[in-house]
Amino acid sequence: MTMRRLTTCSLLYGASVLLAASAVLAQEHGYTPADIENGSRLYQSSCAGCHGPTGDMVPGIDLMRGQFRRGSTDTEIIRIIQTGIPGTTMPPSSFSDTQAGTIVAYLRSLAPASGRAGAGGDVPRSDIVKGKALFDGKADCAACHRVNGNGPRVAPDLSDIGAIRQAKELHEKLLDPNALVRPGNLFLEAVTKNGETITGRVLNQDTFSIQLLDSHERLRSLSRSALRDYRFVKSSPMPSYRDKLSAEEMNDLVAYLVSLKGLRP
Ligand code: HEC
Ligand code: HEC
Repeated sequence: MTMRRLTTCSLLYGASVLLAASAVLAQEHGYTPADIENGSRLYQSSCAGCHGPTGDMVPGIDLMRGQFRRGSTDTEIIRIIQTGIPGTTMPPSSFSDTQAGTIVAYLRSLAPASGRAGAGGDVPRSDIVKGKALFDGKADCAACHRVNGNGPRVAPDLSDIGAIRQAKELHEKLLDPNALVRPGNLFLEAVTKNGETITGRVLNQDTFSIQLLDSHERLRSLSRSALRDYRFVKSSPMPSYRDKLSAEEMNDLVAYLVSLKGLRP
């Protein structure tokens, strides 16, 4: 009886490992930015306590280098996360394959040699991680900007800003937001013939109408003939960070922005 149970158990276990392995294989080529964002949250809440926010607090271990001592494939690292490392303080966890997979995807996305998330040249990962913390926290860029599926749409999505802007330009943008407004980021202030004032980010325009995303993230289509007056806003709605961030913080933030290369599955 015990024997049979054991066999059934290990058979089931074997099958689920196989299933899990193929699911993971499929994922190895297809983590979405949202998955990685999730992984980042799980990492910061469950792992950073020991491994540190930048993955290098356990002596001799650097989780964000893209290489691990105890395994190489995603599947192996997922197992380590689930079972822990016996005889050490690395604890087991109850994360599902998918959850553990997103943590691994997050760790790999920060690896310097990764061609996907592209940590970008020789920028230390710790700067990128600090920059992300500033973006979501103290500098509160996330109040307006969307990255990898998270955040509002009132300002441009910055998920691929590192692919379209250089570090130097990004620096300048933070110091003087009015300096470099891309034509695609035009803001309009309009007054309709009914007296309603609408401001928003222009998505599209033609001879007859203007489509914009208003300040409540609603998509509006304004017929030009229904407008009493309208003007494109010259100054950027974005504040300057010249006096709000130290030079070091500015560098970290730019390192983070440069790392955003529009990761796609
Ligand atoms: C209580 C502290 C602690 C927590 C929490 C913890 N770890 Fe660990 N982890 C360790 C220690 C210590 C080691 C080193 C074990 C050894 O090899 O001596 C380790 C090793 C590892 C390794 C192997 C590294 C390698 O190079 O082979 C991975 C991967 C890992 N941890 C990932 C995680 C992840 C992901 C989480 C969160 C889900 C996590 N750990 C949570 C303490 C912890
Ligand atoms: C009050 C809302 C708001 C906040 C806060 C804000 N931004 Fe912006 N940002 C905008 C808007 C609106 C634009 C588009 C107009 C422009 O280019 O100035 C923009 C543009 C940008 C651009 C240029 C995008 C492009 O496509 O060229 C970058 C880069 C940027 N912001 C980064 C940041 C960073 C980093 C922070 C935090 C330090 C931040 N922003 C804070 C509203 C904001």
